[in-house]
Amino acid sequence: MGDSYHLACVPGDGIGPEVVAEARKAVDAAAARFGFGVDWVDFDLGAERFLRTGEALPDVAVKELRETDAILLGAVGRPDVPPGVLERGLLLRLRFELDLYVNLRPVKLYPGVASPLAGVGPDDLDLLVVRENTEGVYAGAGGVVHRGGPMEVATETSIETRAGVERCLRYAAGRARERAGRLTLVHKTNVLTHAGDLWQRAAREVAGDAGVVLDYVHADAACLYLVSDPARFDVIVTDNLFGDILTDLGAAIAGGLGTAASANLNPSSSPSLFEPVHGSAPDIAGTGRANPVAAVLSASLLLDHLGEREAAAAVEAGAVAALPGAAGYSTQALGDRIATA
Ligand code: IPM
Ligand code: MN
Repeated sequence: MGDSYHLACVPGDGIGPEVVAEARKAVDAAAARFGFGVDWVDFDLGAERFLRTGEALPDVAVKELRETDAILLGAVGRPDVPPGVLERGLLLRLRFELDLYVNLRPVKLYPGVASPLAGVGPDDLDLLVVRENTEGVYAGAGGVVHRGGPMEVATETSIETRAGVERCLRYAAGRARERAGRLTLVHKTNVLTHAGDLWQRAAREVAGDAGVVLDYVHADAACLYLVSDPARFDVIVTDNLFGDILTDLGAAIAGGLGTAASANLNPSSSPSLFEPVHGSAPDIAGTGRANPVAAVLSASLLLDHLGEREAAAAVEAGAVAALPGAAGYSTQALGDRIATA
């Protein structure tokens, strides 16, 4: 018997619990197959909990989550919770409090999945987006005066720190070195001259240290190239908001949210948090139609982060094996096929 891991599970709302159940099956199957232990502890967080108790994320939950080795989250949100409450109060708070400064989002077209891009197959689309995850406009700096009146002013200030930018760049450069040795910084240096300059200088320095070739593309052009020539990218590093937008585009070109996984990482301390990019999809909750693959692939990223490389690869391969014809299966049937594979 190898190591044993104490894993947190936040099933959340809507299809969250359904997809997370299948991801857990895959992790448990991999644990049995590769000889490590897993114990799960469930956290009741999300819209249900908020509507019941008025709490998005009690301090005691943060404290307990900190004691785990990794967190698997399904999805949170419901139409009857006002926008921003769970986003800021739960998801972003976890990213900030656990200092999960990298949001890693693979953009990978799997065999059996159709890209909306003509002529693009699995060999043409396999890249990583490294999104800074604790700063930028997400930092929450800003405010409102004269709300509702004709004098209303609202500001959202983007916060970029040298240390915050640099640590994200170092992670991205490390990933680039393991792959093709190419790193693309995406920003908007022609308009955001202050923050853009900081990113640009830090990126040159970090790429130089890491011995990777640095390219630069403006965020608007990056959207164009992701559609017209995605193979020009291998590892993209970018700020929080650009990364948010680019990775939805990334999910679209890789066949949709059904296979889009993400890792919110602190590369040097536990726990990190893993979640599918998709939301809680209340419209299909309970119908058995949710695709669990994005959650399973997020669990694969979790295993990889824990150092269980073989298990991570096996879980990814299991999900990939189940993909052709996946639309014909229920959430649970697909999860069973993946766990068996
Ligand atoms: C994502 C989501 C979140 C974000 C929201 C729900 C706060 O869109 O993970 O991409 O903007 O980061
Ligand atoms: Mn998003």
